[in-house]
Amino acid sequence: MSDHRSDVQRMRTVFVEALSLAGKSGEVEALRIRFLGKKGELTAALKSLGKLPSEERPSAGAAWNALRVEMEEALDKAMTSTLLVEAEEAERRQSVDVTQPGCGRPYGAFHPVVQVMHDVVDIFVGLGFSVASGPEIEDDFHNFEALNIPPHHPARDMQDTFYLRQGGLLLRTHTSPVQVRSMLRYGAPLRVVCPGRVYRRDSDPTHSPMFHQLEGLLVEENVSIADIKGCLEVFVNRIFGRPLKARYRSSFFPFTEPSMEMDVECVACSGDDPNCRICKGTGWLEVMGLGMIHPNVLRSGRIDPERYNGFAWGMGLDRIAMLKYGLDDLRVLFQGDAAFLSSGGVR
Ligand code: PHE
Repeated sequence: MSDHRSDVQRMRTVFVEALSLAGKSGEVEALRIRFLGKKGELTAALKSLGKLPSEERPSAGAAWNALRVEMEEALDKAMTSTLLVEAEEAERRQSVDVTQPGCGRPYGAFHPVVQVMHDVVDIFVGLGFSVASGPEIEDDFHNFEALNIPPHHPARDMQDTFYLRQGGLLLRTHTSPVQVRSMLRYGAPLRVVCPGRVYRRDSDPTHSPMFHQLEGLLVEENVSIADIKGCLEVFVNRIFGRPLKARYRSSFFPFTEPSMEMDVECVACSGDDPNCRICKGTGWLEVMGLGMIHPNVLRSGRIDPERYNGFAWGMGLDRIAMLKYGLDDLRVLFQGDAAFLSSGGVR
């Protein structure tokens, strides 16, 4: 008599052991194929029943079939539970944990020049000025002629100009054309500041072919040089955050008479450091050009110079930004270096 009982028992032991190690649905499926597939171990045992002597067949058949049923049930159970665990795992991987802190976004920041522009405009708005703007592509009339700069006037060389090919147009070399545009548009009395981009053929550590200016214009009756000094000194003290000594040097601009340049004491050394790299040891910083508006400019703006007078000034915003942030190369302002820009201009 063949000992099919011990053969069945042996296969059962092997199967139970293998199934206990199968943690994944794929492993359970592999076991089904190993034992119950077409070429499976149990299938082979069932097929060989035919070779047994007929008296042994019924009991051997019953024993092997009982094992087959047992295996099928165990495999089904294992398949259900492994699939369930896998589905839960997949869900957990996909789900969002709303209690986790967010990963956040870096904050944007104003460009230092834009920040300075806002600060400067705020101060003048506080002094009763409105904000005006004009085109960056200008014509000869507004950029030069209306500002008392006739053709061939040497002042045009002072401001090496980018001319456009068509229509005698040019890139404005200063914000002063907005003076005339504002006078023509609003008439007198008038207080405006005009921030914006301007262009000159210039490029070195302290000059960029595109830079920023802010123009100011006040037209009223009986304006004196004391008014312009009062107004601009309030401005300078506010933008640099403390009272600074100021001085005025006589200068020349065709659109103002008299014309001056305003210097303030060095914000870095107050004149105490002969090796100061900000003021180059002079103790003074040039901050703007200014003057009483030339009567011809008022006339260009259709304002009666017998009744009204006023003052105008123009300053470089990039220069103010350099002084505020202690920069020695203007070009860092235009290189788009995100690390520099997001530091708020501090190097
Ligand atoms: N437009 C002059 C410049 O660009 C500055 C200025 C403006 C001077 C207004 C006097 C009055 O240099």
